[in-house]
Amino acid sequence: MNPAHARVNGYNVQPMSHLDLAVLGSGNMGRALIGGLLRQGTRPERIRVGEPSAQARQALEREFGVTATADNITAVRDANVVVVAVKPQDVAAMLKPLAPEFARARPVVLSVAAGVRIAALRAWCGERIPVIRAMPNRPALVGAGVSGLYAPADVAAAQVDLIERVMGSVGEVVRVETEAALDVVTALSGSGPAYFFLLAELLAEAGGRLGLPAPAAHRLSVATLYGAGLLAHSGGGDLPRLRAEVTSKGGTTEAALRAFAAADLAGSVERAVEAAAARSRELAQQYDAD
Ligand SMILES: NC(=O)c1ccc[n+]([C@@H]2O[C@H](COP(=O)([O-])OP(=O)(O)OC[C@H]3O[C@@H](n4cnc5c(N)ncnc54)[C@H](OP(=O)(O)O)[C@@H]3O)[C@@H](O)[C@H]2O)c1
Repeated sequence: MNPAHARVNGYNVQPMSHLDLAVLGSGNMGRALIGGLLRQGTRPERIRVGEPSAQARQALEREFGVTATADNITAVRDANVVVVAVKPQDVAAMLKPLAPEFARARPVVLSVAAGVRIAALRAWCGERIPVIRAMPNRPALVGAGVSGLYAPADVAAAQVDLIERVMGSVGEVVRVETEAALDVVTALSGSGPAYFFLLAELLAEAGGRLGLPAPAAHRLSVATLYGAGLLAHSGGGDLPRLRAEVTSKGGTTEAALRAFAAADLAGSVERAVEAAAARSRELAQQYDAD
């Protein structure tokens, strides 16, 4: 650990250049974050990974040049940021033995584990350890994710900024004011890619039924999904304006949108997102600390 590291309220707080990161779990999300941070200029020697699989550890060292160990205590030793990227059901057993090391090194812990709440994380890490939750989504795997981020009010602003930059390495970050809002984030952007995939599938099927060869319908649909996403993103996200620009009066798009409205698409989407948020709350209960 670099002795020049700053301490705020007794906790390690470093600029990104002095990030000493431990990533626990190197599946999809752990690897996405490691790749994102390296692309942003974090040096590989600043990243240590705790990962039980020898094969996965070799792959990490070969592909990313980071140090990987089966011993999580070694991985988190002197880290100022610890990322929890294992499956929600594995979090408790993984964190409990690390509490003495956390008490010594005082890192900030960032959990991306869906549904594992701050109270439970703190019970396992140690009550005085600052814990932040992020809910990323799968496009993080291609650096185009979006994460909802919740930090309790008692976490130092510099630490929240640091974590925002860690999550920012795989996409955009939207801060939310309450932990409960993460269930809505899960329902919107966490599950959201599947909603757009479903719409693209249905479009391709409809195109096929109307006479297009299936491969052509599929390509047209996927390329439309990509192009519309790119346009929405580069156009500043003014969705009503973007939609109006495609919708000429009395034209084809208007006919389709009228059919959507008649089928209560808005109501369907609202009910779908409500169902996902309710399920997120339900799932979260099983990970609460005993
Ligand atoms: N993937 C997503 O799109 C996404 C989106 C939002 C949130 N998340 C969250 O991100 C977390 C990880 O998801 P994922 O998709 O990356 O899962 P994953 O691909 O299954 O990765 C989990 C990794 O953790 C490893 N692991 C298990 N026990 C461990 C331990 N005690 N110490 C260190 N590593 C351990 C696993 O190794 P083995 O395979 O050898 O057991 C595996 O490599 C989850 O909590 C999930 O809720 C994921």
